[in-house]
Amino acid sequence: MLSQKIQDALNEQINAELWSAYLYLSMGMFCEDKGLPGVANWFRIQFKEEQAHAEIFMNYIVRRGGRVILKPIDAVPTDGWATTTDLFRATLEHEQKVTALINNIYALAEDERDYATRDQLNWFVNEQVEEEEAAQDLINKFSLIGSDGPGLYTLDRELATRVYNVPAPLATAAE
Ligand code: FEO
Repeated sequence: MLSQKIQDALNEQINAELWSAYLYLSMGMFCEDKGLPGVANWFRIQFKEEQAHAEIFMNYIVRRGGRVILKPIDAVPTDGWATTTDLFRATLEHEQKVTALINNIYALAEDERDYATRDQLNWFVNEQVEEEEAAQDLINKFSLIGSDGPGLYTLDRELATRVYNVPAPLATAAE
């Protein structure tokens, strides 16, 4: 059984993951408009991953006999990124905030001696390392090519190859 405190924190996190999904979808649509279908593809996949993160938390609350409460999703920015590097800087900044949120729930789970929730969060702790690393890698790549047209074209094509993989906790749940 989940404590009210933990359940509330997990429900807040579901909202944060869905907000992240909406943010990345917005960035993807921004890229479509700018003629960058590959970068748009990267963000569309990020959108799916964030929805999956929310679903993992939802499944966990249900398994523990808790109640999922879906709250309104705040508006997301729709433009204002001057360059592709800016898009990934904003992505990294956002992921760092998500990492802090995950760490806060982790600390709360330890305080509450809810070790099942703490263990569930381990997957997210590792996922956040990957999320930050991926954003940093793309900041580096886009910074390197700067405003070079052919470089941007090549990198856009590279990002077009990204495919969605169902995150492990959901893939296991489906078995
Ligand atoms: Fe669900 Fe990108 O953190």
